Amino acid sequence: MNKIDSLSSFFSYYKYELVGSTNEIAKDLALKSFPEGTMVHAIEQNKGKGRSGKVWFSSIGNLFFSVLLRPKVSKKIISQLSFVASLAVRQGLVNLTNDRENFILKWPNDILYKNKKISGILLECSPSKNNDLVDWVIIGIGINIKTIPNNLNNITCLYEHSYFFELTDVIKEVGNELEQFYNLWLVDSFEAIQKIWLKNCYPVGKEISVKINNKKISGKFHGINKEGSLIIKLLDNSKKVISGGEVNII
Ligand code: BTN
Repeated sequence: MNKIDSLSSFFSYYKYELVGSTNEIAKDLALKSFPEGTMVHAIEQNKGKGRSGKVWFSSIGNLFFSVLLRPKVSKKIISQLSFVASLAVRQGLVNLTNDRENFILKWPNDILYKNKKISGILLECSPSKNNDLVDWVIIGIGINIKTIPNNLNNITCLYEHSYFFELTDVIKEVGNELEQFYNLWLVDSFEAIQKIWLKNCYPVGKEISVKINNKKISGKFHGINKEGSLIIKLLDNSKKVISGGEVNII
């Protein structure tokens, strides 16, 4: 085990130089009965995983870490944790930069800075039937600190905005916020998280497009419901509810 000053004692921190994916390492540790709060950080990943089977380009300079949690809840509500995690990332970055205006949450779990993606979250959990309790959940967090993967236009990093932080300071801020928001979720349920998320996401009424089974649906963002599903207002003013697994916002 390694150490980061002022990181909450809730976490046991393990640092690696190069791994395939920190989510995979954390999963192995989960299967070896490591406790809740186990945190895996890697300087570099060569098989970084993004959502929907995409690759997460993970070169040196950016931040890649995963946290193991063991909430005693049903699998049905586990995707709520991605909202918990995105609030933690946002708040951690706000604490570091003092900029509370420009970090915006985009459904389901992206964090944008000045309208460009700066961080993504990949949640994975133990297999179980719908209503069973999960054994473990891994929250994988990627934050662009120094480099913009593939120099893509709609992606940014902190460095591009002249913010220079030590990776360990970012882990400490985001980690400590994650513990707080996780406890809020455990004690107060999703409602409290939903309220804060809605205060920090992009504005209701914003035009969005969603891809479901390769079909594009356009409409206006209308918030999230109490399960964390996206509500989209269609052109005919009817509302459509879209749950996590099936879409990408484009
Ligand atoms: C996304 O597609 O937006 C989610 C990206 C999640 C990337 C992080 S980096 C740390 C952890 N390990 C992985 O392989 N993926 C997640």
